[in-house]
Amino acid sequence: MEATDAKPGDRRKAPQVSRCECRMGAKAERLTANARIPRRYEHCSLESFHTDTMGANRSLDSARLAAGRFVEEYPVETTGLLLIGPVGVGKTHLAVGVIRELIQQKGIPCLFYDYRELLKEIQNSYNASVSATELSILRPVFEAEVLVLDELGAIKPSDWVWDTVSHILNTRYNDKRTTIITTNYPDEAEAPEGLDANRRAARPLTLGDRIGERMRSRLHEMCRVVKMEGSDFRQRVQSANFR
Ligand SMILES: Nc1ncnc2c1ncn2[C@@H]1O[C@H](COP(=O)(O)OP(=O)(O)OP(=O)(O)O)[C@@H](O)[C@H]1O
Ligand SMILES: [Mg+2]
Repeated sequence: MEATDAKPGDRRKAPQVSRCECRMGAKAERLTANARIPRRYEHCSLESFHTDTMGANRSLDSARLAAGRFVEEYPVETTGLLLIGPVGVGKTHLAVGVIRELIQQKGIPCLFYDYRELLKEIQNSYNASVSATELSILRPVFEAEVLVLDELGAIKPSDWVWDTVSHILNTRYNDKRTTIITTNYPDEAEAPEGLDANRRAARPLTLGDRIGERMRSRLHEMCRVVKMEGSDFRQRVQSANFR
């Protein structure tokens, strides 16, 4: 339990790690293990989110600040975050960084779920040969104090997808739980009813198209929108290395 570099007989006072710190460390470890952060994102923290690399967009600075403020203010302020931006801009990195800090600084139980994975697990639970039930998958998602739902809208919409997403978001909304969401789809309304097929096909898909207008509006009540702009971080770093 104690980290010390004191030798036997050394009268100097050894650096102490209190029982309390030690217990916090064990709790943080347990909460981190339970948060289901994928290995691909294990390296992500707020500290390792750089906003000074060549070509970084200024919106990343504001997004990093918003993430830090969120951690500071939680749980006095419980409004979640809706991180919106193109591929590779760092949305998942920032979302994981936030829950890591909440776990480490405040001992808050958090859960990470990829949207596609979650819907697939729920779908599989209808299969008789799979022992998990729909509720056994959904209960932790409903009850997580802070949930990250990564890549919202990444599955082609159907009535079932819309019903399931509204069930999840409405339950968390009613229970006043905090949700952090990432998405690639711009925060705009779904295509108007009367729009003809050609114009509909030519128009870029929006968050409204992917989750429905009612759920998009619900998200605005649950989350603060954080827009992240710029190029794919991996390409940015790669091209900076070639310079
Ligand atoms: N500002 C940053 N500082 C450090 N690493 C970053 C930054 N932005 C992104 N990365 C790293 O680049 C990779 C891609 O980032 P991430 O997966 O968070 O992007 P994303 O916006 O979620 O993309 P997608 O839309 O494809 O899900 C990750 O390994 C991440 O750690
Ligand atoms: Mg992502």
